[in-house]
Amino acid sequence: MNESQRQALIDAALSARDLAYAPYSNFHVGAAVLADDGQIFTGVNVENASYGLTQCAERVAVTTAVASGCRVLIAVVVATSGGHSPCGACRQVLAEFGGTIEVLLVDADRRQPIRQFTLEELLPGQFRLEPDAPRPS
Ligand code: THU
Repeated sequence: MNESQRQALIDAALSARDLAYAPYSNFHVGAAVLADDGQIFTGVNVENASYGLTQCAERVAVTTAVASGCRVLIAVVVATSGGHSPCGACRQVLAEFGGTIEVLLVDADRRQPIRQFTLEELLPGQFRLEPDAPRPS
């Protein structure tokens, strides 16, 4: 990811966050993923009165990318107040399409990245149905 892609991804996650639907937790999350062809897709958390049906922002972004034909993701930005890490379920879903994806956590209050990880750092030993199968990278 080059510097202009990085800034575009940060801006996209921050803008998306403004659209989060989080009336129950009031914790607004915006995510943006960068596909290997340079396209950016965004997601927000979408809560539900039946709490367990809530969708996380990261998974919405991944789903949108895949539904648009992308299969390899190279970076994700997650924007929250404070710069929180993706939950475990989102880490595993990110792993499906980006085993080596860069994860950038942005503090929405300061509009700045505060931490950066590889997915392997956040989710060592990712679950794979076929341990020897090639992964998208
Ligand atoms: N949330 C996300 O969108 N992504 C995560 O990785 C963790 C949590 C959302 C779900 C819920 O709407 C709110 O944050 C509080 O848990």
